[in-house]
Amino acid sequence: MRGLMDKIKKIVVYDADNEFYAKIFPDSVTKKDLMRIRTMTHADLPSVLSIEQQNYDFPWEEDIFTDCFKAGYDCYVCEYDNKVLGYCLLSMAVGEAHILNISVDQNEQGQGIGRRMLEHLIDTAKGKAETIFLEVRPSNVGAIALYQNTGFNEIGIRKAYYPALNGREDAIMLALELFN
Ligand SMILES: CC(C)(COP(=O)(O)OP(=O)(O)OC[C@H]1O[C@@H](n2cnc3c(N)ncnc32)[C@H](O)[C@@H]1OP(=O)(O)O)[C@@H](O)C(=O)NCCC(=O)NCCS
Repeated sequence: MRGLMDKIKKIVVYDADNEFYAKIFPDSVTKKDLMRIRTMTHADLPSVLSIEQQNYDFPWEEDIFTDCFKAGYDCYVCEYDNKVLGYCLLSMAVGEAHILNISVDQNEQGQGIGRRMLEHLIDTAKGKAETIFLEVRPSNVGAIALYQNTGFNEIGIRKAYYPALNGREDAIMLALELFN
């Protein structure tokens, strides 16, 4: 309990300090300092769906996100200045965590948001799961680079896992052992 309170205090104080400095000394605080990751709500869905549609040929529909809420999955957005820049979702069961989606607004990519969200999901899973898994399209070189340089390893291929514009595409399965 104490550990949890300390964590919450750290986040709240950190945000409050950053916001204070941003107002008094605007040049001393960067956009990166002011971005925050928080739980996704229904009110975020229009922004989330708009990013989802930008990023994928076969985007998730709203009901998939609401099913994730209902299932109690960990669903987060990264926001800055009241704007959703990206989102990520994680399911957890019997010692295994699974990254279901991680996605950043195309205009906001390449600023460390994807890495920040991935690290957040890894921290969320630590202590509750031994391994964190995900699937990625072999054609998604940017995402594969992010996962590999975060320590994920390839553990297999799921044949014809994804729908593709010209048929089906395999999925590369990646895993990261969480040393709690
Ligand atoms: C994959 C994605 C989430 C990465 O988010 P991002 O905010 O752009 O990534 P970051 O800025 O945090 O980059 C982190 C690392 O990812 C890698 N990376 C990201 N985009 C890359 C690209 N286009 N080419 C090569 N490497 C890339 C780099 O290794 C980078 O490391 P660096 O910080 O040392 O440069 C984002 O590109 C995205 O939303 N893509 C569309 C949705 C998607 O494909 N999601 C993954 C489904 S499995």
